[in-house]
Amino acid sequence: MLSAAKHPSPQGADSSLAQNDRQAQTNGQVRDLLGRPIRDLRISVTDRCNFRCTYCMPFDEYPWIPAAQVRTFDEVERLARAFVVLGVDKIRLTGGEPLLRPGLEQLIERLARIDGLDDLALTTNGSLLAQKAESLKAAGLNRINVSLDTLDPEKFRRIRRRGDLQQVLDGLFAARAAGLEPIKLNSVVQRGVNDDDIIPLVEFCREHGFAIRFIEYMDVGNANEWRPDRVVSKREIIETINARYPLREIGRGRGSAPAVDYEFADGGGDIGVIASITEPFCTTCTRARLTADGQLVTCLFASRGQDLKGPLRGGASDDELIEAIGSVWRRRSDRYSDLRLEAMTSGRGYQAREHSKIEMITLGG
Ligand SMILES: C[S@@+](CC[C@H](N)C(=O)[O-])C[C@H]1O[C@@H](n2cnc3c(N)ncnc32)[C@H](O)[C@@H]1O
Ligand code: SF4
Repeated sequence: MLSAAKHPSPQGADSSLAQNDRQAQTNGQVRDLLGRPIRDLRISVTDRCNFRCTYCMPFDEYPWIPAAQVRTFDEVERLARAFVVLGVDKIRLTGGEPLLRPGLEQLIERLARIDGLDDLALTTNGSLLAQKAESLKAAGLNRINVSLDTLDPEKFRRIRRRGDLQQVLDGLFAARAAGLEPIKLNSVVQRGVNDDDIIPLVEFCREHGFAIRFIEYMDVGNANEWRPDRVVSKREIIETINARYPLREIGRGRGSAPAVDYEFADGGGDIGVIASITEPFCTTCTRARLTADGQLVTCLFASRGQDLKGPLRGGASDDELIEAIGSVWRRRSDRYSDLRLEAMTSGRGYQAREHSKIEMITLGG
């Protein structure tokens, strides 16, 4: 079993790595080349999805990960424990659609027992939540994010292309009844598509006591035909809401959360905005991602990951796994969104299609 007292040994590489290792030993955490610790892990439990959202997975078919390549629950738990040794205290299960993974509750039970893990959350499209909310809660899930971009059933079908709005609403209320609190909605805002849904969504959340996180439309993957003029900026989102319901800024949860949070001045709840495009947060990014087939990916916009399934299935010891993960993190220097903004605001411009990226369904949003 992995011990939380162990830390990866220095690689003896260049001076910045050695410096990082010294820093990691001082702080009890491994740090990357920009001094960022590893604290959050997003685990994709499947690349399959029963929706085909235009902003994420617009095609009907993808080169799916073969079943034999998908990590078993034993493998996920072993990797999760290794990440916790390195400093991770928060895990989010995602996908694809995580609730499609058979027996997910068993994995949740196993992860919930890991010492040093403070928070176990899940992001879902909500389609299967009405059936699963109680068993998820009983298994030890702490929190849930449900993606919902509109309250208009017609528009829902246009954006998500499968499933229906009522299923998701039923899921939301079932999650509340099961005691999964807090429940947060995730809404991707696209200009000319659902920017007129911002206020109805805010009012829905105020009425029912849900929190909501608006997400700037991002150029994830290679298929979503992202264009900068489709992005509704954080500034515009905040101005729209503030004009109707005055807001006070709270800031980022624990300083490194992707969302900047605000509370309603009248005490009616809180909202947040994830502004990866217009206000990137690369300098405070503490997130690692594990694909369903065991690749470690250190940036949402990465073009490749580092294989951990090979060592895992090749008989690596716990210490070797910790060392493999730590050495990837210590060499990390990703700051894709910072560079995107620099390109967008310089004369060079930014062409999303020139950058090949891992699909979001594969690496987990
Ligand atoms: C990839 S999904 C996986 C979990 C689950 N299937 C869901 O939809 O919630 C995770 C999150 O990524 C968000 N997302 C997907 N594509 C996006 C894009 N192009 N820009 C911003 N957010 C996106 C989704 O809205 C969702 O909240
Ligand atoms: S956002 Fe979630 S529900 Fe939509 S296609 Fe992507 S993985 Fe599926």
